[in-house]
Amino acid sequence: MLRKLELPKQLSEIFGQYAQGVIDGKYGSYPEVEKSKYDPLAMVSPYMLDRLIQRAGDVTNCLELTFFEIRNVRECMGAENYDALVKWISAQHGSESRQSGSFWYPPKAHMGWHTNNDHEGIRTYLSFSETGDSFFRYVLDGNVITDQDPKGVCCRSFRVSKVKPLWHCVYSDTNRISLGFNNAIV
Ligand SMILES: [Fe+2]
Repeated sequence: MLRKLELPKQLSEIFGQYAQGVIDGKYGSYPEVEKSKYDPLAMVSPYMLDRLIQRAGDVTNCLELTFFEIRNVRECMGAENYDALVKWISAQHGSESRQSGSFWYPPKAHMGWHTNNDHEGIRTYLSFSETGDSFFRYVLDGNVITDQDPKGVCCRSFRVSKVKPLWHCVYSDTNRISLGFNNAIV
């Protein structure tokens, strides 16, 4: 089950400004990411999901990297801002949030189908899409659902569990920044 959380306006602005700063090179430059040799949209297709399930059963983490890992998130966002964000996410779930991933997807980047089943818990992803030309795709009750990003900030939360895996993937045709947090299930 996927939930959308509404970030308080101030936190949304903090994250949005930080994300735009990353894209604008305010916190340093990143090398050119190596483009996938595969069509990124094919990699996040329902057909690919069927193939993965048939061949591998599960994919806990997507290995093909067509995105950057963002460095020094707390320092760049400002410790006070970052801590306020973590505090708010922790309060949503009633347990301490730990950062689980920080990514910059440039145009045509993707993260393929996976479940994160090796780290069970509640995931919360903040995303910033520069134009809105990007999406989070997941499976609910056997149906593939494409959840288009809005332009700007969005916050999604879902449960990662081996009993009820949530297959998901990401595609971006714009600059998309995402920060993930994991909460233990209490
Ligand atoms: Fe994931």
